[in-house]
Amino acid sequence: MKHTIIFFLLTRELVKSQFLVNTTATSASEIFDGFVSFSIEFSSFPDFAGNNSHPNTFSDNLLENIKHLTGTKPYIRVGGNTQDYALYNASLPYALNGTFDPKRSLDYPTTIYIGPSYFESYNTWKDVKFSHGFNLGLGANTSAGWQTLLDTVPLACKALSGGKFYLWGYGNEPDLFSTAAQGPVRPPSWNESTYVWQWHNGTRTMHALLQQHCPDLAHESQYGYMAPSHGGVGNRLKAHVSWAAGLNNDRNIKLYSTHNYISGATTPGVTLQSTLLNHTVTARSINAQAAEYARILSLDPATAPPPIFGETNSLYNQGRPGLSNTFGAALWVVDFNLYAASKGFKRVHMHQGTNYRYASWQPIETNITNIGTKPPYYGNIATAAALGKHGNVEVVAVPLRYHREAAYAVYHDGILSRVVVINMRGYNTTIGGEGLIALPNPPKRGSVEYVFQLAGFERGSSVNVNVAVGGKQKVKIQRLTANGSDAITGISWDGWSYNYELDEGRPVKLGNVTTGEEVEVDGEGRVKVGVEDSSAALLVF
Ligand SMILES: *[C@@H]1O[C@H](CO)[C@@H](O)[C@H](O)[C@H]1NC(C)=O
Ligand SMILES: *[C@@H]1O[C@H](CO)[C@@H](O)[C@H](O)[C@H]1NC(C)=O
Ligand SMILES: *[C@@H]1O[C@H](CO)[C@@H](O)[C@H](O)[C@H]1NC(C)=O
Ligand SMILES: *[C@@H]1O[C@H](CO)[C@@H](O)[C@H](O)[C@H]1NC(C)=O
Ligand SMILES: *[C@@H]1O[C@H](CO)[C@@H](O)[C@H](O)[C@H]1NC(C)=O
Ligand SMILES: *[C@@H]1O[C@H](CO)[C@@H](O)[C@H](O)[C@H]1NC(C)=O
Ligand SMILES: *[C@@H]1O[C@H](CO)[C@@H](O)[C@H](O)[C@H]1NC(C)=O
Ligand SMILES: *[C@@H]1O[C@H](CO)[C@@H](O)[C@H](O)[C@H]1NC(C)=O
Ligand SMILES: *[C@@H]1O[C@H](CO)[C@@H](O)[C@H](O)[C@H]1NC(C)=O
Ligand SMILES: *[C@@H]1O[C@H](CO)[C@@H](O)[C@H](O)[C@H]1NC(C)=O
Ligand SMILES: *[C@@H]1O[C@H](CO)[C@@H](O)[C@H](O)[C@H]1NC(C)=O
Ligand SMILES: *[C@@H]1O[C@H](CO)[C@@H](O)[C@H](O)[C@H]1NC(C)=O
Repeated sequence: MKHTIIFFLLTRELVKSQFLVNTTATSASEIFDGFVSFSIEFSSFPDFAGNNSHPNTFSDNLLENIKHLTGTKPYIRVGGNTQDYALYNASLPYALNGTFDPKRSLDYPTTIYIGPSYFESYNTWKDVKFSHGFNLGLGANTSAGWQTLLDTVPLACKALSGGKFYLWGYGNEPDLFSTAAQGPVRPPSWNESTYVWQWHNGTRTMHALLQQHCPDLAHESQYGYMAPSHGGVGNRLKAHVSWAAGLNNDRNIKLYSTHNYISGATTPGVTLQSTLLNHTVTARSINAQAAEYARILSLDPATAPPPIFGETNSLYNQGRPGLSNTFGAALWVVDFNLYAASKGFKRVHMHQGTNYRYASWQPIETNITNIGTKPPYYGNIATAAALGKHGNVEVVAVPLRYHREAAYAVYHDGILSRVVVINMRGYNTTIGGEGLIALPNPPKRGSVEYVFQLAGFERGSSVNVNVAVGGKQKVKIQRLTANGSDAITGISWDGWSYNYELDEGRPVKLGNVTTGEEVEVDGEGRVKVGVEDSSAALLVF
């Protein structure tokens, strides 16, 4: 079934209502450097980063690839549910002693001791800034937890001195402390007021410890947190209520950090097409987060810190096989990230953990998951390529017509630089959509032709500073492709593979993918591009 839909734009009115792309940015807001960033589960951090004697160079190669595209190494937030289980044991001879309790989680340990060598993992990646997440769950609830805070602030601050410090975290998803599926760590009376009280008690203690052990990091120019790190906007505790109750009265929350998942791994009705490959669903999820941030902004615009997604991914409870680990999820990553940028989020930390189904990469070999670059990583790469290296980057969502497609205009210094088109119509080439066994006769792959009218384009003018060849605007096309939305391997970005088995995650140009395509902007300022179902195209002006 081939459905070529041509949106040919006849009048300026129609253009305005549908596929107008301004050549200069109008209302977008600038994103931060390192927009493509990661969050790493506290208990998995030694796996991802390694230690002094065994640095994880595969992970570092994957982070370097992003730096190559954006000019900045991703920022790394170390935290997650397991940060609130971690206690310190000074005589533990290795980084982490984790004990699993299948009743609480099959995916990560819920009884955790860390030793001094845990902090070696902050040494292994060059040019990376880190956020270390301290334990509030047990920290303000048990004496061993409180002692852990006193013991580990000096270790963490020493590990992050010398240019590696990003921000601190204190408590992961405190909005879920009294209701967590993995076991509550607070009584039902837990509310925003008790949270704020405990936050002040802990953070003021941390500040005093920093003054004593790492005075540089206690200085106002460095000292700060990402918070409240809520699990979502629909939970019992509300971020704006904590804010109103004085959470940021010490003015040390430098980034408003919120967490987001589109749905759950085992939530009934979740499918690749209707949940992840559906722009309406992604937009709704981010819009709800933007609305909560707007409430905080309205309390006091002068002191509200900028918003980021400090932890996010597709489906909570570590993702679902056949959805979160497919090429379809890579397309979702691009849509989620660019839409977040268009709604004012300054940075996005995609959450990672060992054996997690939604992970961008598996950092070590385990008996559950092979070491390797996973499909979502290609979404991180495509996002990084779309944003590019430029200093001032803004993203505007271009409204399209259907749920299963999305487009974004990217501006550098206010001038149109790229257009991203994501065709999220599902396409399977394997039996049962499992990504394993190829269908003997796959269906014909559909393709959609998109036409964008560049508003503000003047005949003969140069759309932007990058390209003006022989009076004609040539536009370079780069593609994010795989055999289908169900593919779990064989994915490429502009013909590059970053797979572990090729060169440990360093880029390798594939011989079987067409690259180097170009199209022209016509005399009326229109540019046309065909995009196959389950793929994305980047137009580079
Ligand atoms: C283009 O700019 C106009 C005028 O500022 C605005 O109304 C319109 O929404 C913009 N279109 C896009 C796609 O950003
Ligand atoms: C701390 O580590 C030591 C050395 O491995 C071990 O003997 C001790 O049991 C640990 N303590 C706890 C509370 O796990
Ligand atoms: C460093 O990592 C290696 C490999 O995982 C491990 O065998 C070793 O015990 C670690 N060293 C410390 C001090 O934790
Ligand atoms: C690891 O933790 C478990 C559970 O608390 C404990 O029984 C065991 O002794 C610990 N091992 C070490 C080496 O500390
Ligand atoms: C802060 O919390 C700790 C641990 O719960 C507690 O021991 C301490 O007394 C508290 N500080 C104040 C000022 O109440
Ligand atoms: C810690 O929280 C748990 C769960 O609400 C509660 O049962 C326990 O009594 C608390 N412990 C302390 C010391 O407050
Ligand atoms: C939290 O609960 C306490 C005790 O019931 C109450 O005094 C306080 O007003 C509550 N705070 C909020 C923000 O609802
Ligand atoms: C996409 O999501 C919207 C909103 O939930 C829904 O109405 C629509 O049917 C979905 N479309 C597809 C193709 O799943
Ligand atoms: C898988 O590896 C874990 C951690 O090394 C180990 O505890 C577990 O027993 C292994 N499971 C199997 C089935 O080999
Ligand atoms: C792909 O396969 C999955 C799993 O069988 C199925 O749910 C989905 O509808 C298929 N998608 C398409 C576009 O055929
Ligand atoms: C993708 O499709 C091509 C052509 O049918 C096939 O040769 C290749 O093995 C497929 N790749 C994967 C990873 O299945
Ligand atoms: C191209 O080659 C790679 C690596 O051998 C493979 O995984 C992929 O499926 C191939 N793609 C196509 C379209 O044949």
